[in-house]
Amino acid sequence: MRALRLLAVGFAGLALATPVASQSSSSAKRGEAIVKANCADCHAVTRVGDSPNAKAPPFRTLGQRYKLDDLQEALAEGIVVGHGGADMPHFVFEPAEIDDIISYLKQINRKR
Ligand code: HEC
Repeated sequence: MRALRLLAVGFAGLALATPVASQSSSSAKRGEAIVKANCADCHAVTRVGDSPNAKAPPFRTLGQRYKLDDLQEALAEGIVVGHGGADMPHFVFEPAEIDDIISYLKQINRKR
């Protein structure tokens, strides 16, 4: 429930700033840019391909292992927990950036 409420708050904030029609896709686009810049060294970050680091799960499969809304919390806390220690750098993101990352992850984890 908490994740849902957080999402609802995020949406309300975005709705003030941007036209409703474009909000989710532009958020996902920003998220895509963030993960391409920060995560693509190790993870496959699109709908295709293998991770450069074989131990790092492709992002399009994260939805099978996690509820993506829970991942939102993990990102907010600085994503290290359960993360194979030294292999995975410590990231700290702004709440708005986390919303964008989650939007993007939802997009590539969604079955078409
Ligand atoms: C330097 C390499 C590297 C980078 C850069 C990196 N990761 Fe990872 N990540 C890993 C590895 C390796 C694992 C697997 C760790 C394990 O299973 O022990 C992993 C696992 C994960 C997992 C799954 C956690 C779990 O417990 O199974 C998530 C989610 C994740 N990374 C998110 C991210 C995000 C988001 C970014 C960019 C902001 C990122 N990673 C950048 C190496 C990296």
